[in-house]
Amino acid sequence: MNALEISNLKKTYKTGFLRKETVAAVNDLSFNVRKGEIYGFLGPNGSGKTTTLMSVMGFITPTSGKILVLGDSPGSSKSRERIGFLPDNPVLYPYLSGYNALYVVGRMFLLSHSEINKRIGALADELGMDRELRLPVAKHSRGMRQRIGFAQALINDPELLIMDEPMNGLDPMGRKMFRDVIMKRREKGKTVFFSSHILSDIEMICDRICVIRDGGIIYENTMKGISESRPGETLEDIFMSMMGSGK
Ligand SMILES: Nc1ncnc2c1ncn2[C@@H]1O[C@H](COP(=O)(O)OP(=O)(O)OP(=O)(O)O)[C@@H](O)[C@H]1O
Ligand SMILES: [Mg+2]
Repeated sequence: MNALEISNLKKTYKTGFLRKETVAAVNDLSFNVRKGEIYGFLGPNGSGKTTTLMSVMGFITPTSGKILVLGDSPGSSKSRERIGFLPDNPVLYPYLSGYNALYVVGRMFLLSHSEINKRIGALADELGMDRELRLPVAKHSRGMRQRIGFAQALINDPELLIMDEPMNGLDPMGRKMFRDVIMKRREKGKTVFFSSHILSDIEMICDRICVIRDGGIIYENTMKGISESRPGETLEDIFMSMMGSGK
């Protein structure tokens, strides 16, 4: 079973003076994410990862192609309830405390007051959150905001967790906490699909990865398949050689 199916996805933007030029951010992209796996989405800056994730979430409309998220079209309320999303730059109301930023999202999912408190408590333990719950978001550091954004994505206990560079701005302990949370969700049968430039994190937790470049897939494999076909090579070695700039 697939949690996510992307077929021949294309997204072009009009750019330039008079918007006469078009640029293809994503071009004929196809891949599936299986239920219960951790799938890493790799690619250099500007290769189309965020555009793909925004299309999957239904925040932008693709030019062509087909996307099925948990068997539904992107943005349908039925699928939204079962998805957690962490954008590349979580937007949080500056005057809300971290606790309230989480509480509001819990209410959006119609959770009861006691259930929300239970979940915030559990997420605070998992993500090492303490001060960030009490402080207004405007006074948060980058990593504190990232923790609140991650907790927001998790508060509905999503079947499918989609994240755009979740480890961004985290210290090494934070990155380990995030990895542990992601792996714990896999143990519970959840699916995780995320983009990242931190290849060591990807290496440690992903079951499968794909690499995109100029909006199209150039490589897809399981981590097991990679270590069998390219023994002794790190993901960084492989990525660099694919980009044509081997060390
Ligand atoms: N609104 C937009 N209008 C015009 N071009 C855009 C727009 N959004 C993205 N693009 C272009 O689409 C391409 C892909 O961008 P995207 O943000 O999806 O890349 P990315 O893989 O997420 O990169 P990064 O690793 O830097 O986050 C880039 O060339 C970018 O300039
Ligand atoms: Mg991006």
